[in-house]
Amino acid sequence: MRRKILVTGGAGYIGSHTCVELLAADYDVVVIDNFSNSKPAVLDRIAAIAGRAISWHEGDLRDRALLQRLFSQHHFAGVLHCAGVKSIPEAQQFPLKYYQHNLEASLTLLDVMSQHGVHKLVFSSSATVYGEAARLPYREESPLAPNTVYGRSKMMVEELLHDLVQADDSWHIGILRYFNPVGAHPSGLIGEDPNGQVNNLMPHLCRVAIGRQDALSVFGHDYPTPDGTGVRDYLHVVDVAEGHVKALQHISAENGLITLNLGMGRGYSVLEMVRAFEQVCGNHIPVRFVARRQGDLASYYADASRAADILGWRAKRGLLEMCADAWRWQSNNPDGYL
Ligand code: UFG
Repeated sequence: MRRKILVTGGAGYIGSHTCVELLAADYDVVVIDNFSNSKPAVLDRIAAIAGRAISWHEGDLRDRALLQRLFSQHHFAGVLHCAGVKSIPEAQQFPLKYYQHNLEASLTLLDVMSQHGVHKLVFSSSATVYGEAARLPYREESPLAPNTVYGRSKMMVEELLHDLVQADDSWHIGILRYFNPVGAHPSGLIGEDPNGQVNNLMPHLCRVAIGRQDALSVFGHDYPTPDGTGVRDYLHVVDVAEGHVKALQHISAENGLITLNLGMGRGYSVLEMVRAFEQVCGNHIPVRFVARRQGDLASYYADASRAADILGWRAKRGLLEMCADAWRWQSNNPDGYL
């Protein structure tokens, strides 16, 4: 009998790649997603890659009645909680929305899990919880001081998870702090397809390369970094997905709470990303230097040694592979999922 895992936000960018790896590791998968930043079409693509269907439910995690039905219908061995809203500028403008979708939704999910005796959870957190205070590279025990509403919404969920394990040692919890996931599944069937406004670097690079945008706006070129542009720890989304499966396997065997960075452990600047992308797509990417983006830090990257020591996980796929897979996804699906 396969163990069944609930993936919240399973139609999203990280969630969809994680479903593929869970299916490959012989789990059964049930997805709940409200499709606020994803499309149901992705679920057929996941099934095509895996050669096996997944069941899915459309809905919001704050809908307690829906969650009750789901947990009564299925016996879950654990939950991967990837659902959430993630735009930093939007969060600054609409903090209530961010606390509702990231914090309130998590509270409802945890409450229903607890009622149904499901105590294994892997939570999608973000490197943005560290903020400016921490020294580089960011280690899991570095101080947390997020400088945005989005970052605080993730930190608050982390704090409540700590309180939960303090009070009840039957919980098995993994907190994964992602750095900058990019790229796409090598099949070219699934990838990042943001609805509405695009914020992140890689989708912008793809849009310029394919001619949907005339130039890449580089936010700031006067940072104290080697070429003046922002430095981030980019890692392949399939590595992130594999990290989830390893984290799930680890927490299944051990109770308590573990927090892990998922990063490469080194940074690349915006201009290094542009050059790597040009190399794989063969097109020139025009850039336009503009003002710094509010809330951006100059540079950060992970100390990823804890995930290596504890899970035996490393981000294996390099920068050119990240760019080549992103480009394959973009060229095969110029308009994303239809
Ligand atoms: N950048 C540009 N031009 C763009 C987009 C981005 O120059 O059009 C630059 C940014 O200034 C930054 C770098 O590219 O230096 C990466 O920016 P992203 O928006 O891709 O990623 P961020 O590091 O800002 O944030 C991402 C996610 C957050 C998450 C954070 C955690 O968007 O949700 O990583 O590391 F919290």
